[in-house]
Amino acid sequence: MLSETSRPVVQATLPVIGERIGEITKKFYAGMFAARPELLDGMFSRANQKNGAQQQALAGSIAAFASHLVEHPDSLPESVLSRIAHKHTSLGIQPDQYQIVFDYLFAAIAEDLGDAATDEVVAAWSEVYWLMADALVKIEKGLYAEQANDRIYSPWKLTSKQSSGLDCMTFRFEPADDTAVTVAKPGQFVSIRVPLADGLRQCRQYSLSDNVESTTERVLTTKLDEGGEVSPFMHRNLEVGDVVELSNPYGDITLDMDGGPIVIATAGIGCTPSASALQSLVSTGSDRQVLVLHAEAVESNWALKDQMLAAVEQLPNVEMRLWLEDTTGTTESLQAAEGFMNLSGIELPEDARMYLCGPLPFMRAVRSQAIAAGVAPTNIHYEVFGPDLWLAA
Ligand code: HEM
Repeated sequence: MLSETSRPVVQATLPVIGERIGEITKKFYAGMFAARPELLDGMFSRANQKNGAQQQALAGSIAAFASHLVEHPDSLPESVLSRIAHKHTSLGIQPDQYQIVFDYLFAAIAEDLGDAATDEVVAAWSEVYWLMADALVKIEKGLYAEQANDRIYSPWKLTSKQSSGLDCMTFRFEPADDTAVTVAKPGQFVSIRVPLADGLRQCRQYSLSDNVESTTERVLTTKLDEGGEVSPFMHRNLEVGDVVELSNPYGDITLDMDGGPIVIATAGIGCTPSASALQSLVSTGSDRQVLVLHAEAVESNWALKDQMLAAVEQLPNVEMRLWLEDTTGTTESLQAAEGFMNLSGIELPEDARMYLCGPLPFMRAVRSQAIAAGVAPTNIHYEVFGPDLWLAA
């Protein structure tokens, strides 16, 4: 809980910190990587540093956390913390590293605010930082303890690599040693860590895209990002028989296997967690009511189309709707609507849980439409690929 001494100070300085936090996080990362370049080897994403996404995500999370503490001093913003903790554990973040981040973050605050960074202000914001850090460490400890092994990464061998949709590829891995395998939940992701040509290792998180129940396989479907570093390596350099490092599965947006009706609304490569959820429902012989909504630019872009259609075919209580920006030449049986996803006229099952995955503008639009149609906001869950910029916005 934020102390009564710090609360008014945080409240009074929230606007100035809120305004400067973008610059502060930039200075923080620059200072930390200059002093600790090893953190860019297999931990932080160089691409997210270059495009500023990680700076924005960190700034957004600190602002959201501090605002929450001021408004509700007795509670913590669980969903903000949960997402970060799952990302952190997939990367092997350890408790002692929180001091390193503290040192460079507060050096950046002192540099940026100058005289405005009084002892009182620094003490109050340090309290915010450590409340956040302690809460994260606690959740992360619990997540590590749930795993079937105590490794951050273990070796996995590529057993097949198949094209699946425009610029998309499905990679199947089997364990390459006898490390115990944690059973994943549908919707979860793993980190993959690969060595790049310049000697640096980089990791990315990819959703598992096939059945995750009763299997020791890990299956990832990725879209080639020409400007990225890891997907070009996977698509072009990784060959069947190669061994890569995969983390245990993490991610808090998961499908509970025996709840009520669900609506899954996805766009583009956001279909991967939903493909996994559908496959897992098939493998458990589920008769749950499922409404699958998917949007693509054109039919040929749709990664995992065949897998998803086959799953829909096998599930007894599922309905699927498809939207294409351009329906020219589309397979007739798909009955695709032209344009962006639009929920008007679609009957959403009562009390359904709704899962969204796709670009932020898509998720914002569909979430608003769902709320207007009567879905409770607490029943809507979203998964963002890459750093979560919803809060930052
Ligand atoms: C990712 C916050 C401490 C390493 C993130 C993200 C946030 C965040 C918001 C983005 C999550 C997303 O994907 O949406 C925080 C906060 C911290 C903290 C508030 C302290 C209170 C640490 C520490 C380390 C660390 C101690 C280790 C040195 C990372 C890494 C990523 C990450 C490597 C992924 C970055 C990327 O892929 O670009 N963190 N973090 N964080 N964090 Fe932290």
